Amino acid sequence: MAQYDVTLNTDDRPLTADEFKQALQKYDAVCPSVCDAFPAEVLNVKNKRCKILGNFGVGYNHIDINAAKAQGLIITNTPGVLTESTADIAMTLLLMSARRGAEGDRLIRSKQWHGWCPTQMMSSDVTDTTLGLIGFGRIAQAMARKAHHGFGMKIIYFKPSPAEQSIIDNLQATRCNSIAEVMQSADFVSLHCPGGESTYHLINQQMLNLMKPTAHLINTARGDVVDTQALINCLQSKKIAGAGLDVYEGEPNIPEGLLTLDNVTLLPHLGSATIATRTAMGEKVLNNLDAYFNGLPLPDRVI
Ligand code: DGY
Repeated sequence: MAQYDVTLNTDDRPLTADEFKQALQKYDAVCPSVCDAFPAEVLNVKNKRCKILGNFGVGYNHIDINAAKAQGLIITNTPGVLTESTADIAMTLLLMSARRGAEGDRLIRSKQWHGWCPTQMMSSDVTDTTLGLIGFGRIAQAMARKAHHGFGMKIIYFKPSPAEQSIIDNLQATRCNSIAEVMQSADFVSLHCPGGESTYHLINQQMLNLMKPTAHLINTARGDVVDTQALINCLQSKKIAGAGLDVYEGEPNIPEGLLTLDNVTLLPHLGSATIATRTAMGEKVLNNLDAYFNGLPLPDRVI
């Protein structure tokens, strides 16, 4: 980074709106992470020096894209390098939810495990069941590969446009005509659509009601894709068997209703949290900034 004067946010605390406004006025480039909110009110600040937001993350629903566009700001992200690690976390959640992994861990730590017993902590098989994917981009396809080739799972998905034929063939995947069809037919539903206005509470009470009582919901996409209260209701009343969550509405605040449930596995937004992935994400941010400041085409330009 010899070519830049860098100011780091060393205490890992999201800056306030005023601090972000000042950053936009003070620096040529600002590099937010996925928890740093850039609403229009911040982006519209007067006397901006900043020309580019080099986002450290693939999702950019924390940035008001229309406002950024209107302000002529360039935005880049980090696609591709976190695909496998995020799909691994989705698969981890699926397995933990199906096999009650977190509950078993709690049982031992609370010194309540008194030994093997034929009917203790009965759970659900994963192998040969059906995985339903909402969204079918890079991460969904990586999860489908692990699930299909590793666990013999049947793959169904919903995405407005059909996926490439070679991908469908490799996964023997079936495209459903609607999200409702996926919700009804899958043993595990995993969410892989982007966050933001268009997918806000896409998975609401009505959609959850369609799921089998033995099914599990997995969310590694964005918290606000799911109506959390509706999910809590379904888990409390055992309308569905379980859920595995890595992302939350208004994270890092987690509703008490989730914390007290045994049939939900909760991870702290770990999707991309491997050393190799986070290093590769950082390199992508730098490559994008280097390209911008050297007048070259940007590798990962969002706008
Ligand atoms: C992203 O990049 O959007 C992820 O949520 C970060 O792990």
